[in-house]
Amino acid sequence: MFNQLQKEIIKLKKEKNAIILAHNYQTADIQEIADFIGDSLELCVKAAEIKESDLVVFCGVDFMAETAAILNPDKKIVIPDREAECPMAHMLPAEYLKQAKEKYPQAAVVLYVNTLAEAKAEADILCTSSNAVAVVKSLKENLILFGPDMNLAWYVSQQVDKEIIPIPEGGHCYVHKMFHEGDLYILREKYPDAEVLVHPECDPEVQKAADQVLSTGGMIRYVANSPRETFIIGTEVDMTTRLRRENPDKNIIPLLSEAICENMKLHTLEKVKNSLINEEFVVKVDAEIARRARKAVEKMLEVS
Ligand code: 13P
Ligand code: SF4
Repeated sequence: MFNQLQKEIIKLKKEKNAIILAHNYQTADIQEIADFIGDSLELCVKAAEIKESDLVVFCGVDFMAETAAILNPDKKIVIPDREAECPMAHMLPAEYLKQAKEKYPQAAVVLYVNTLAEAKAEADILCTSSNAVAVVKSLKENLILFGPDMNLAWYVSQQVDKEIIPIPEGGHCYVHKMFHEGDLYILREKYPDAEVLVHPECDPEVQKAADQVLSTGGMIRYVANSPRETFIIGTEVDMTTRLRRENPDKNIIPLLSEAICENMKLHTLEKVKNSLINEEFVVKVDAEIARRARKAVEKMLEVS
């Protein structure tokens, strides 16, 4: 059953011919009124398919909404809270990337979609956590500049026969840095039949101690198709919200309840309603930067 605010949002959506896209880390009340929930890649694909809607309300962090704007220069993309920024995306300024490209002119530049539009414009191709290995394998170059997440860079380096240079040094996600393999071993003792799924943004020690390393969308598919009953989930805590809703017969346990992405949580139902009424806050990307960044996004979508 929807609450009063959710009913108002659903009515406004119809009146405005709007669509709400939400990342898997959004809270339950936002997930419930979203037209589509997904991981970064699924949201990119969805954004590329948007045709009929006049207004897109994007409940995710800045780089995700910017990617939707890059793919849809003629659409109005709004974000409920303009402060919802991914700190990792801000760790790789375009200037730093330009210097790295000068130092390694023979390298291909693969950037995680968690980057600012200005950095994307400097990339050869983008990737997300679900397609990073396929993207790197698709390139002819054997030397790869990869940023900004050094843990995802490590994950890729384990599966390809290429040299991966992480840029910048120490690029990370503060949420996934909260996990330690010790917590994982404690939960394994408590739930010996559980399968442990973690995100590739976790530290290598945590990835090595897990059973599967998956994007958030990969976790959704994995749990739905596995005969196993208990799963320990090593990523942002609201990932368990969608997993529990879609798998009511399964036991879904967060690896750490404190693993909260405060940036994602800035969006609220009140702010979503405001976005629909006032059509704010519009996500704008400079036309020339968007043109260059679009090439890198589209190249990734061809591989996916
Ligand atoms: P996914 O693409 O797996 O949803 O990851 C996005 C993200 O920001 C993880 O922290
Ligand atoms: Fe960025 Fe980490 Fe939040 Fe994902 S969980 S949006 S990488 S800060």
